[in-house]
Amino acid sequence: MEKTKNTISRETGIEIGSICGRYFLKLEHLHYGYWTGELEEDITNLHAAQQEYVKFLISHIPDGVKTILDVGCGTGQIARRLLETGYQVDCVSPSRFLAQQTRELLGEKSNVFECRYEELQTEKRYDLILFAESFQYIALEQGLKNTLRFLNDDSYMLICDAFRKDVDGNMGLGGGHRLSKFYDAIGKCPFTLAKDIDITKQTAPNIDIMDDAIKNVGRPVAHLVLHFLSVRYPIASKLLRWKYRKKLNKLNDKYFDGRRTAENFRKFKSYRLFLYKKTT
Ligand SMILES: C[S@@+](CC[C@H](N)C(=O)[O-])C[C@H]1O[C@@H](n2cnc3c(N)ncnc32)[C@H](O)[C@@H]1O
Repeated sequence: MEKTKNTISRETGIEIGSICGRYFLKLEHLHYGYWTGELEEDITNLHAAQQEYVKFLISHIPDGVKTILDVGCGTGQIARRLLETGYQVDCVSPSRFLAQQTRELLGEKSNVFECRYEELQTEKRYDLILFAESFQYIALEQGLKNTLRFLNDDSYMLICDAFRKDVDGNMGLGGGHRLSKFYDAIGKCPFTLAKDIDITKQTAPNIDIMDDAIKNVGRPVAHLVLHFLSVRYPIASKLLRWKYRKKLNKLNDKYFDGRRTAENFRKFKSYRLFLYKKTT
């Protein structure tokens, strides 16, 4: 299936995030940090908070699981931890850039399927299929259908991700399936709920941290670049500002209007860990 413009910009955003996060903050992962209350909520602790997230995730893998499919494996670092813990792990990554990084990291130990999960074709079956902050990118019904197909009998689906609540308004932060739609869809599938843990409180601090970085770094840098262009290339700059005025306004609304706060995250989003068992 051909990638849409939206999918391409989302993928590019994730790839750029991975390069910047790794270079500036030594981040290994692409998911939120899990803030336990012991860490000061500061960007310099994001690396440690991400490690807490992985610990939390792994602690919910049921006994008896041997083989795992890590869907939307990002940089491959969770898969590396899982391999070190003794699981056999394969990965799915639609991003050539991230799939390459994952192959370099994991070598022969893991099979990296370079495709969207919705298009995955394999005869292999797994004891657990993992979505670490990747479920929101996958088409709901097709994702569940594939999961049932690629799971062994009596095996598990583990999702840790943000969902949208049924609340009017929005916080300028997209992403996440609507929680009520997820419950509807999963209710029609042969799955039994084993765990449903709300970790919105532990993940909300990421939003204030990101917002702070955008306000203190993103906004001044954007203003300086626009100012430089208007002085150096006044006519071209005016034309570009006019041509892309809707896009610029949209970006301004999205990032700088003060709606992206931890408080709004708690109001509009629900970050959950779900463990489901496939019933036969
Ligand atoms: C926020 S990152 C999380 C990465 C990683 N699981 C982690 O926790 O660090 C989202 C991941 O989902 C992947 N992704 C996006 N759309 C996908 C799709 N349709 N099928 C599979 N993976 C997808 C992205 O390439 C990226 O690796």
